[in-house]
Amino acid sequence: MNKRPDEVAGMFDGVAKRYDLTNTVLSGGNAILWRSAMVRAVAPMAGERILDVAAGTGTSSAALQRHGARVVALDFSPGMIAEGRRKHRNIEFVLGDAQKLPFGDNEFDAVAISFGLRNVSNPKAALSEMYRVLKPGGRLVVCEFSKPPVAIFRAGYYTYMRYVMPVIVDRTSSNPEAYTYLAESIREWPDQGELSQWIRGAGFIRVAYRNLTAGVVALHRGRKPVDATVLASVAKRKGNATRPIKTAANPKP
Ligand SMILES: C[S@@+](CC[C@H](N)C(=O)[O-])C[C@H]1O[C@@H](n2cnc3c(N)ncnc32)[C@H](O)[C@@H]1O
Repeated sequence: MNKRPDEVAGMFDGVAKRYDLTNTVLSGGNAILWRSAMVRAVAPMAGERILDVAAGTGTSSAALQRHGARVVALDFSPGMIAEGRRKHRNIEFVLGDAQKLPFGDNEFDAVAISFGLRNVSNPKAALSEMYRVLKPGGRLVVCEFSKPPVAIFRAGYYTYMRYVMPVIVDRTSSNPEAYTYLAESIREWPDQGELSQWIRGAGFIRVAYRNLTAGVVALHRGRKPVDATVLASVAKRKGNATRPIKTAANPKP
């Protein structure tokens, strides 16, 4: 499906003003539970620096900051950021692209992304960037729509998205077309297992997930290895160890 960054950013500019209201209504109140599960998974601590990627209007960022962490909320939609700044004056908002984070290596204790990765045109590039900016040992949490594993529940959920959601959206959203995109992007998004593989592929360890609301949403976790540079050199040495060694009997291995 088309996820041209300028069009995605423009679409979120268009829904920014009523984004939080539409979310609460569409999720039947579950959005609040998903956010608190996300905050528990990040487990923010006072004094930590946490990056909230694709932060939108900063609702998740505010929930994280309440625990005493310093949160940086990054998004590439000026409209969402303007709405976020209006609502949360104590949060630092940064305009930027998840695929090219405007931060140095090893800067953050934790990185979270809620309902954002699915909208990024190259999600694997974004995961690599999140890995880069995390400190060694840092935590990653990805909260995203997923695939309910029980077939009957999944069928009911897709029926809801197809027939009920458009009616609600017509009454609550400032840009109903954007929610056609929402339904399509959810259907096309990989399931829990595949997203876990992507997270491992970016270099994270201790990768795990848990389903929320029967798998409508999945909460994925991972860690940057404690010393990524040491691990990289160990892997390199292991590679060298398997190569034939030059000896008197074998001068050209
Ligand atoms: C569904 S909203 C989620 C907002 C917020 N995290 C939340 O939980 O309410 C998705 C957000 O992703 C942002 N986004 C999409 N692609 C992005 C990218 N490449 N870089 C930064 N933000 C991006 C959009 O602008 C939008 O604000």
